[in-house]
Amino acid sequence: PFGSFKEALEDGLHHGYAVGQFNINNLEWTQAIVEVANEENSPVILGASEGAIKYMGIEYMAAIAKAAADMSKVPIILHLDHGSSYDVILKCIRHGFTSVMIDGSHFPLEENIALTKKVVEACHPLGIHVEGELGRIGGVEDDLSVDAREATLVHPGEAERFVKETGIDAFAPAIGSQHGHYKGKPNLAFDRLAQVQTLTGIPLVLHGGTGIPDEDVRRAISLGVSKVNVNTENQSAFTNTVREIFDRDKEVFDPRKYLGPARAAIKDAVRTKIRLFGSNGRG
Ligand code: G3H
Ligand code: ZN
Repeated sequence: PFGSFKEALEDGLHHGYAVGQFNINNLEWTQAIVEVANEENSPVILGASEGAIKYMGIEYMAAIAKAAADMSKVPIILHLDHGSSYDVILKCIRHGFTSVMIDGSHFPLEENIALTKKVVEACHPLGIHVEGELGRIGGVEDDLSVDAREATLVHPGEAERFVKETGIDAFAPAIGSQHGHYKGKPNLAFDRLAQVQTLTGIPLVLHGGTGIPDEDVRRAISLGVSKVNVNTENQSAFTNTVREIFDRDKEVFDPRKYLGPARAAIKDAVRTKIRLFGSNGRG
């Protein structure tokens, strides 16, 4: 069935595990994630970026997620990832999303608070939960100096105010993680993460889950992260598999011959993450 975003994350926070958000791009992607979640008896969050919604079409995306939820014995959560406007939130609500992220992190604090609060006010009466973000979670393409990096990190005092005034259910603080494959070793600000957890007390979200060393992920979870977002790693697993097959077999034309193995590669990647996050057995 569809599950509750807030319940899943709060259970993770109280029991020291995190629920994975795995972004989806097509049918095979969704099947892979949901099959592993069932095999591992784990709740799972299907992440829908605005780009993926545009690519799949929101009707197809919602219908595929509903089929997955109907067939699953574990909670399936359909979550808008990095929602950029009030309008896209309303569209997702109309199509049966269980929860949404509003990403106002590029706005000044006051504007981010106002937009996020407006989204919470629209969603909560309908039982839809909301994730907000503060600070800047960049891409690996933006090469930052030490001072520039400092400026992107969440400010714990602002985080406390943001969470209190908006009423969000989960909070994504920028602590130095980045989207995409890391160049070198990621450098997470665990001190800030700990302060943010003490000051807010709500489930925290770690974006940019691809390429963070296992021990850093475990440490983040021990400090209050109860949702970890992973996207690029699955994209690489899928594409590398297709590329290997094409390199090996120049004659292949049946799409099932490469989409099937690519789906299996995502299953392996997601299973490893679910076990690392400790959400197996928590469905
Ligand atoms: O919101 C999506 C995630 O933060 C994905 O990050 O592509 O680096 O795994 P990633
Ligand atoms: Zn993200």
